[in-house]
Amino acid sequence: MCGIVGYVGTRKVVPVLLAGLRRLEYRGYDSAGIVYNHQNRLVRHRASGKLSELEAVLDDHIGVESSIGLGHTRWATHGAPTELNAHPHSDCTGDLVVVHNGIIENYSSLREALKQKGHTFCSETDTEVLAHLIEEHLIDDLAAATRAALAQVEGSYALAVLWAKDPETIVAARRQSPLVLGTDAEACYLASDIPALLPYTREVVFLDDGELAVLGKGQYSIRQLADGSEVHKESTTIDWTATMAEKGGHRHFMLKEIYEQPIAIRSTINGRIMPETGRILLPGLGISDEVLTGIKRIVLVACGTSWHAALVAKYWLEKWTAIPVEVDIASEFRYRHLLLHEQVLTLVISQSGETADTLAGMRRAAQFGSPVLAICNAVGSTMAREADGILYTHAGPEISVASTKAFTCQLTTLFLFTLYLAQLRQSIDPAVQKELGLQLIQLADVMSALIKPMQKNMQAIIESYYEARDFLFIGRGLNYPIALEGALKLKETSYIHAEGYAGGELKHGPIALIDADMPLLALAPQDSSYPKTISNVQEIKARQARLIVVGSEGDSQLAELSRHHIFLPKVHEELNPILYALPVQLLAYEIAARRGCDVDQPRNLAKSVTVE
Ligand code: F6R
Repeated sequence: MCGIVGYVGTRKVVPVLLAGLRRLEYRGYDSAGIVYNHQNRLVRHRASGKLSELEAVLDDHIGVESSIGLGHTRWATHGAPTELNAHPHSDCTGDLVVVHNGIIENYSSLREALKQKGHTFCSETDTEVLAHLIEEHLIDDLAAATRAALAQVEGSYALAVLWAKDPETIVAARRQSPLVLGTDAEACYLASDIPALLPYTREVVFLDDGELAVLGKGQYSIRQLADGSEVHKESTTIDWTATMAEKGGHRHFMLKEIYEQPIAIRSTINGRIMPETGRILLPGLGISDEVLTGIKRIVLVACGTSWHAALVAKYWLEKWTAIPVEVDIASEFRYRHLLLHEQVLTLVISQSGETADTLAGMRRAAQFGSPVLAICNAVGSTMAREADGILYTHAGPEISVASTKAFTCQLTTLFLFTLYLAQLRQSIDPAVQKELGLQLIQLADVMSALIKPMQKNMQAIIESYYEARDFLFIGRGLNYPIALEGALKLKETSYIHAEGYAGGELKHGPIALIDADMPLLALAPQDSSYPKTISNVQEIKARQARLIVVGSEGDSQLAELSRHHIFLPKVHEELNPILYALPVQLLAYEIAARRGCDVDQPRNLAKSVTVE
């Protein structure tokens, strides 16, 4: 949801801003813009469309002598994605500009009041009011004027301001949208997310809600927006490297991230299972064993793919810990009548740790005294910092908008947490726990051997189905959420209409859709629901659907029933959702790539949904 970068230092600023925007483009790609100070004048360049459009405009300006500037890549909320609506937005004089991520909720009343005072507006955006409002308060202190302006603003923001008359200062502030500072001896950097900083520094400072930062060459200060009091913060050293956020020879980030899953899963497990005993260790969890032992109910809250991970976890947690589990979509949970208390654990799941609805849900849960545990991938994200406890997924930076490795690492972490809770509450036989732990450790090797041949063997399927208009996915039990995930991956990357169903639901309506043109992918491992799934497959075959099955190696019955099959090695059935995520991810990727879609940046989407 919009990416912000800022730089003040000694380098030439345009390449630094463009490199940062490139790494943040996944956050929004409707339009982009930069501004820099050149000889005490602000020079602004903007373009609608992808960042490449802006890069083309900037061809002659790469070497410009300026070492302070801001950049922005937009995901439109207010106003169409035109050049005029692209950030940075300027005040009436053109001497002050703002880049912003978030939504200014009272922008229309502010805009009217500012118009009355003689301000002229050039865009349809909510952001532009910020520039005029700061202008209204500005005498000679940019930070003070920004603070005064923000006192009148309702809504969410991560913003950065540049003023031509203060050519070595960037002012930034945040409320409910992420912002992180990077520091080194000669410069300060600003970004919506860590990957933009990695080529330059790994020393970062996370800005919290209600804080304002003043950045200069190699120095910064942070204040509370409310009362202006100074805030002292420690920097954090990030262990992600710059190359982790690059494509590494793959055509798209999505494919790279699919291939990275075995490594990511290994890192997620690393040090958390004792191979000799199968005991689970979750040091630094942040919620005491005593509290976890007393939990009477668990509520899982998430959006999109992370919600699918939650649906799988319900099966695991209820089976192995005997604790009742509810799963909620965060945008519903946050407005629902909640029945929570100190003995209900709220578990929020999020790759980014910044999803607005999930954050709001966790804050509401905390108001009821419910302990909140976050499963996040983004180190230092708002969720990770605000939750009572945190379990990181260690998937590394995920750049493709469609989530893949973060999903399987969420599943891995949720499985580890299930075993941990079961161990604490002695609800699992230690021998079974050991067996499950060992199989989880081995799963990464199984996946590693599988991806390349699977991708190759899938090509015939891709040629037969890439022109499909619709697609159905079915699964049962633990694999039902994987059917939902397969449908989501396909629709978001290839724009094919796709739906996922629990196998048993087919005859309650969706079976009416099946005819000889309808592609249907059935997840049919030889697990405890296998006989029931086979009945579904028979029903589908009887209606001549174009059937693809994903099943267990050597299943000749399935091979006979289907037009196409993808066979996977047998693993413990509890781990099937992690393994069976692979073929549905690859299928979505290959179909989208074959259709020539913009795989990493599908239309209308953004990686991190920081607005409601
Ligand atoms: C789909 C996808 C989204 C996210 C959802 C939640 O591929 O990536 O559905 O899963 O927007 O995002 P996080 O996990 O960052 O809270």
